[in-house]
Amino acid sequence: MTIPVITIDGPGGAGKGTISQAVATRLGWHYLDSGALYRIAGLAAARAPDIAPGELVSSLDLDIVIDDEGQVRYRLGGEDVSEQIRTEEAGEAASRLAALPEVRMALTGLQHRFRRAPGLVADGRDMGTVIFPDAGLKIYLTASAAERARRRYKQLKDKGMGGSLAALFADISRRDQRDAQRKVSPLRPADDAVCIDTTGVAIDTVIGQVLSLAAQTFASLKE
Ligand code: C5P
Repeated sequence: MTIPVITIDGPGGAGKGTISQAVATRLGWHYLDSGALYRIAGLAAARAPDIAPGELVSSLDLDIVIDDEGQVRYRLGGEDVSEQIRTEEAGEAASRLAALPEVRMALTGLQHRFRRAPGLVADGRDMGTVIFPDAGLKIYLTASAAERARRRYKQLKDKGMGGSLAALFADISRRDQRDAQRKVSPLRPADDAVCIDTTGVAIDTVIGQVLSLAAQTFASLKE
């Protein structure tokens, strides 16, 4: 039996992280935050500018562990970088590195290894188009750029990080453009994705929609 996968793709701030984690928790499935891997790659590349990015990323000394509170922690070369990768700078570095085919290739096997029983919820930009093209359920989440900037602003503020709303809006728009226009694995909905616009919609409503689509899609959830 193939292990079921739900892919949740879309631009930054569309609610992918919150929604994917909630869906994974409710189903008792694994969760892949592929953006975190690109952020870690960005950090590693900034620390070792002399090493070719593809080479560097294929030999990352990365440990992914779940802490006592059930939170995923990322350790790079033994150092916990879970908070450091969440800054806007790390997002920007990730987006620049993510345009390189050799980096995307180097991260492919690692992403596939997250597909473990009883199932996987995979969050990113190319989960449904490139990494898990055979996923049973593909979701593409969007929201207006203004709303996504507001959400990012709140997220960063909740974590005690700074940044102005106007600067975030500019960052998000620039990153969207780069992600959508790159030659390899550009940000776009898979042909068979269900598109959900989350502008002005409560997160819980979207979680409910995804869970009900999952129940309709996967026989294992009906038993
Ligand atoms: O989702 P998050 O903001 O953490 O992703 C950071 C960056 O990593 C994105 O802007 C995008 O350029 C890149 N990324 C990607 N493919 C993915 C996930 C993230 O190119 N599957």
